[in-house]
Amino acid sequence: MNEEAKIRQFAEVAKTIFAPAYPAVARQIINTLGIRQGMALEVGTGPGLLAYELVKQSELRVFALDNKFKALVLAKEILHEKGADFYRLYLCCGNALNLPFPNHTFDLVCSRGSFFFWQDKIKGLKEVYRVLRPGGRAMIGGGFGKKEIKEEIRVKIKTVYPDWEERVAKRRREFSQEKLYQLALKAGIQNPTIIYDEVNMWIVFTK
Ligand SMILES: C[S@@+](CC[C@H](N)C(=O)[O-])C[C@H]1O[C@@H](n2cnc3c(N)ncnc32)[C@H](O)[C@@H]1O
Repeated sequence: MNEEAKIRQFAEVAKTIFAPAYPAVARQIINTLGIRQGMALEVGTGPGLLAYELVKQSELRVFALDNKFKALVLAKEILHEKGADFYRLYLCCGNALNLPFPNHTFDLVCSRGSFFFWQDKIKGLKEVYRVLRPGGRAMIGGGFGKKEIKEEIRVKIKTVYPDWEERVAKRRREFSQEKLYQLALKAGIQNPTIIYDEVNMWIVFTK
């Protein structure tokens, strides 16, 4: 399968099987960070559905960034169909390892399901820290919002990605709670909190 086909396949999965996770994860991010207005950045937006929910559930202006231009073209189509508020949702192309924003720009930075693919995770975390405003907060990692949602996804996704469960288990072995904590410390982040249970793998921090 070529890259474009993979992007289309993931977008389809996101729109259908992953769909219930996005409102729940957006709510979790907003409530955990306690930030409902100002400037937000979502890194690795893919089909843009988390950014869409963040805009819907808050007064935030959300920059939704991905390094795959084709994913963003598709995201634009999907979000247009959903009637997204493009006055508060901006799609942008860029790399997590070299974010195209000045220092101290965002009140909130989040990233779901993308961090694990960043080639240099420490550099990516440093970049997130750099673009946060003093007092700004970030939540980087992955999750499904609720146990029931993850279970629903686990059952349905087998038809599309038969090895999904195995990949999730491998990721959890590779990125233990301690490993996430150490990565954050190595990025120079002070007092990171790790939210880690069967549905969550998040690094949370404040600048
Ligand atoms: C599994 S998808 C998750 C998409 C979305 N966050 C979601 O939860 O539906 C991972 C996304 O991260 C993007 N990504 C991976 N590495 C990246 C990087 N270094 N910079 C920006 N985006 C990246 C990929 O292009 C892909 O769209």
